[in-house]
Amino acid sequence: MREEIINTKNQAIAQITETKDLQEIERLRIEYLGRNGKIAYFIKKIKDIKPGERKEIGILINETKNTITKLLASQKNRIKQSIREWFDPTIPGEKIEIGHLHLITQIIEEIAYVFEKIGFIRVRYPEVEWDWFAFGSLNFPKDHPARDEWETFFIDAKPHPLYGNMLLTPHTSSGQVREMLRAKKPPIRMINIAKCYRRQSDISHNPMFHQFEGLVIDKGINITHLKGTLDYFAKATFGENIKTRIRPYHFQFTEPSFEVDFSCTLCQGKGCKLCKEGWLEVGGAGMVHPYVLKAGKIDPKKYTGFAFGWGVERILMMKPNLNIPDLRQIYSTNLEYLKQF
Ligand code: DAH
Repeated sequence: MREEIINTKNQAIAQITETKDLQEIERLRIEYLGRNGKIAYFIKKIKDIKPGERKEIGILINETKNTITKLLASQKNRIKQSIREWFDPTIPGEKIEIGHLHLITQIIEEIAYVFEKIGFIRVRYPEVEWDWFAFGSLNFPKDHPARDEWETFFIDAKPHPLYGNMLLTPHTSSGQVREMLRAKKPPIRMINIAKCYRRQSDISHNPMFHQFEGLVIDKGINITHLKGTLDYFAKATFGENIKTRIRPYHFQFTEPSFEVDFSCTLCQGKGCKLCKEGWLEVGGAGMVHPYVLKAGKIDPKKYTGFAFGWGVERILMMKPNLNIPDLRQIYSTNLEYLKQF
């Protein structure tokens, strides 16, 4: 056994010092020092040796092990050094990929910037909301069928004694009365950009989406202020040539109410496959209903206001250069897709 160990040691020294490559070093380490390696084999064999010789053999095995360990380390260093000496600093390095903001975040920042420029203050209100702020305070009587249009997710929780059921807010209009109560006194110029939730899913709808809600309340606010504001937003976002129009509509929380159209951003209003007649519907707007002002503790005899609520994703899909065929892809984790924006 003594001879066997010495031979192994010499063999290891020869093999290790000859090696020029790091993988080979690792292979040799496993061969000699690994769990089933040669040193382990000798240690196992000690029990077969005459008791009187065990000590000597034990010391020899230990020595061999230490020699091999040290030699492996120093040879490894030497190899690394020689690799370094050959390092060519003129070779281009590997580029580290730099991420970027998600497409939705980008458009939200853009919308916020456009409104902040004309004095709107950006706020956010709860996504998990009470019925009162999402519906009740906005003039939806209990059990009114108009609520059905909002396809709401209700939360299985104890109802609030004053505010009713807990739900995921289906629109940013839930921020209107919250903002009135927060500000206490007009003037109010709110832009509330937040997540909303509805039971819907198809190529242009996701159960989770974003809206931006404008609310302006002051003395003497009228429809021309609303029209001016949406003209400004349209031009700032889609360029000087865009046209806007408002059509009569009905919402519980505005009177009068409108739907807002922008001239088609793809065909510049000429009429195409997307818009048919040259106009794209953007969302709702109107003059704040006196009932809603009262719910926000604002005197409708002194103050008037306008509001609008539009989809962030809708604005994104109207950007002519983006071409998003299925909105749900934006919320996927497919990096190959998301990287292009
Ligand atoms: N909250 C409405 C919706 O989700 C949109 C809306 C309509 C908001 C009229 C408003 C408004 O502020 O005045 O469909």
